[in-house]
Amino acid sequence: MVQFSVIDEQGMTHPVEAPADMGLSLMEILKASDYPVLATCGGMALCATCHVEFTEGLERLPEANDAELDMIDTLPNAVNASRLACQIRIGEHLQNAVIRLRGDGN
Ligand code: FES
Repeated sequence: MVQFSVIDEQGMTHPVEAPADMGLSLMEILKASDYPVLATCGGMALCATCHVEFTEGLERLPEANDAELDMIDTLPNAVNASRLACQIRIGEHLQNAVIRLRGDGN
């Protein structure tokens, strides 16, 4: 299991635990944990409703691919640490990361 933290729209931080060996995406875990991630494109890097900001741990992640970078480029609220949760596999690289939900445009 890998443990990380999620900061919700109210600014509250919650611990999240996820299996590291099932090939799930961070988006799938956020949805399964009842966070308000619509994921209307189903994880194709097309809707950006899974937009998150890594306030800790970004440097441990694999690099974003072109599709992810192109979509993030279109977001008015994107920041340097923006990523799309659907493009990030759950794995040890997420251990102790802190992730702020940004998909609602905030
Ligand atoms: S779920 Fe649509 S961009 Fe991630």
